[in-house]
Amino acid sequence: MSNNLIIAIDGPAGSGKSTTAKLLAQKLGFLYIDTGAMYRAITYLALRNGIIGDDKKIIELAEKSDIKLDFSEGKTKIFVNGEELTDKIRSIEVNKNVSDVSKIKDLRKILVKKQREMGGKDNGVVMEGRDITTVVFPNADVKIYLTASIDERAKRRAKEFMERGTEVPLDEIKKNLEQRDQIDSSREASPLTKAEDAVEVDTSNITIEKQVDLILKEVKKAAKEKGIQLNIT
Ligand code: DC
Repeated sequence: MSNNLIIAIDGPAGSGKSTTAKLLAQKLGFLYIDTGAMYRAITYLALRNGIIGDDKKIIELAEKSDIKLDFSEGKTKIFVNGEELTDKIRSIEVNKNVSDVSKIKDLRKILVKKQREMGGKDNGVVMEGRDITTVVFPNADVKIYLTASIDERAKRRAKEFMERGTEVPLDEIKKNLEQRDQIDSSREASPLTKAEDAVEVDTSNITIEKQVDLILKEVKKAAKEKGIQLNIT
């Protein structure tokens, strides 16, 4: 066990994971790792190489991919083999294909290994995704499961698209979220589920500040138990 805290956050798309995890990492001075960005980057490259549906080629692609996440000033940049893919991984095409790519068992093994290496460093870490509390770090010091109603989640995603200059109809977003929820929760390999010992936070009707506060309480508890001094800003 490291001397630092591992904070694991899971939940469906649009439940507020990224916003909450980022703020938390900034407040704590911890590393922030968006694991969804890693599945998205492989999906983007698979689309570009025309290999969607060819699991073997996708696995080979992941093996050859040196993925780097760089979190600074509240934004995560993602690079694969030196090429920046930050904005490209958020396209509608990637949204449509990412859940199917994420089903590939051997791809998950490769990415989970990378995630454990990233999170196992000396710094504290906030890592978010679908299987962080159950598979990647089942012994994390703090385990959180975020949820929100489908309507609220769709509204949030629509706003994100608007902020990036694309208008996408709300019902199209809702349909994509429902499809992804369905695939992510029912797939054979590491489905999205709430870990028994995870603290569930429903974000439908609370502010981001409140979400962060609720999780910070858990973090403080865990730090006290481990005798770790936190430096919260
Ligand atoms: O969090 P996100 O919407 O950016 O994630 C994109 C997809 O990646 C999501 O639909 C399922 C997959 N994913 C996963 O299978 N496991 C993770 N730990 C993170 C994301």
